[in-house]
Amino acid sequence: MSDARVASDVSEECEATPIWSDRYELGFAPMDDIHKEFVDLVRLMKTAPESELVSVLDRFSQHAQAHFSEEESWMFADEFPARDCHKQEHDAVLDSVYEVRNLIQAGHNPAMVRDLAKALEDWFPLHATYMDSALAAWMFKKEYGGRPVVFRRMTK
Ligand SMILES: [Fe+2]
Ligand SMILES: [Fe+2]
Repeated sequence: MSDARVASDVSEECEATPIWSDRYELGFAPMDDIHKEFVDLVRLMKTAPESELVSVLDRFSQHAQAHFSEEESWMFADEFPARDCHKQEHDAVLDSVYEVRNLIQAGHNPAMVRDLAKALEDWFPLHATYMDSALAAWMFKKEYGGRPVVFRRMTK
């Protein structure tokens, strides 16, 4: 593979890598803060040098456990509807993370962390829109008595 090809591939990869944007904001600050960390770590899984992928995966694994258990503590403390299917989605993500970690431990190429990152990129917007947003609204109402108001920049 030529250097030009490598540079081109890296450039395309970076352009496709999301950064935090207000389109992910759900209006409940504790959850938005957790989601910022999620997006940053997924970006790192796509852009970190190959030699750092295992440690980045381990950081993401710790984040995901804390992220999901925080949301589940909110859901199960208050009999939030749809909590079981929400938790099932979290569990499926954790299973994938552990599977990738085990495969790397067994000798597979750590570059598979980048494939996991792509899958997480596809998963997160839908999960945030259909599951986390309902929980954010529920928590906001519980704490402030109304619905969150989120201002987002206009997109073309
Ligand atoms: Fe979340
Ligand atoms: Fe969630």
